[in-house]
Amino acid sequence: MSIQALQKIIDSSRRVVFFGGAGVSTESGIPDFRSKDGLYNQKYKYPPEVMLSRSFFDTHPKEFFDFYRDKLLPEGVKPNKAHLKLAEMEKAGRLSAVVTQNIDGLHQAAGSKNVFELHGSVHRNYCMDCGKFYTSDYIKNSEGVPRCECGGVIKPDVVLYEEGLDNATVTGALREISSADTLIVAGTSLSVYPAAGFLDYFRGKNLVLINRDPTPADSRAQLVIRGKVGEVLDGIKV
Ligand code: APR
Repeated sequence: MSIQALQKIIDSSRRVVFFGGAGVSTESGIPDFRSKDGLYNQKYKYPPEVMLSRSFFDTHPKEFFDFYRDKLLPEGVKPNKAHLKLAEMEKAGRLSAVVTQNIDGLHQAAGSKNVFELHGSVHRNYCMDCGKFYTSDYIKNSEGVPRCECGGVIKPDVVLYEEGLDNATVTGALREISSADTLIVAGTSLSVYPAAGFLDYFRGKNLVLINRDPTPADSRAQLVIRGKVGEVLDGIKV
């Protein structure tokens, strides 16, 4: 029933945009943050939100990178049915953009081209002194605090707590969301701002929520599907 309703909305839409969070990657084996088995509910020396902050990165770089390598650089993860369907929809001209809070690069790995990574990407790492680029493999295979050949500290291009979002990414994402007539929001608890506030820029006809747990936007949605986003999207015919 709800997949048919989603199909009908997609088929009758002029411009569809997807807005996703960590729940889009759980079917690829990457835990999300706030579910009971999520990253924030595991036990660490410091709270994960502290360890993923800029001040912790600056004051405890070794502990930061130990946590980051262990928890944010999962080995051998692959796009799941959600990523693949979204890439197929974009290719067929049925999806205008993906706006994601995720930093795992799985949308691009699935073939999506127009992707706005609000919180950056583990696949981009830059020396803080000379700006030289390094891959996620380089960070994964390094020990302690990763250093550039110039001696500078290499920082992952991910938005840490206390840091701002990239202006061009924000502008692009808001342009897409504000010009869509259908916004599909999936796999996110909508609990982190400013990302969660991007929904306020949506002026279109159909707000669709696909989420395992209830979200604060459910009451505003034309369609709420309580389910696994990979399974739901897999049922969509492009
Ligand atoms: N299908 C649908 N929904 C799912 C699935 C799934 N397979 N797996 C998990 N979910 C839902 C959970 O019910 C939860 O509501 O996805 C949501 C994930 O919420 P969070 O763990 O809070 O992740 P997210 O919303 O992306 O967090 C936002 O918080 O810590 C920061 O920067 C981090 O980008 C992250 C931001």
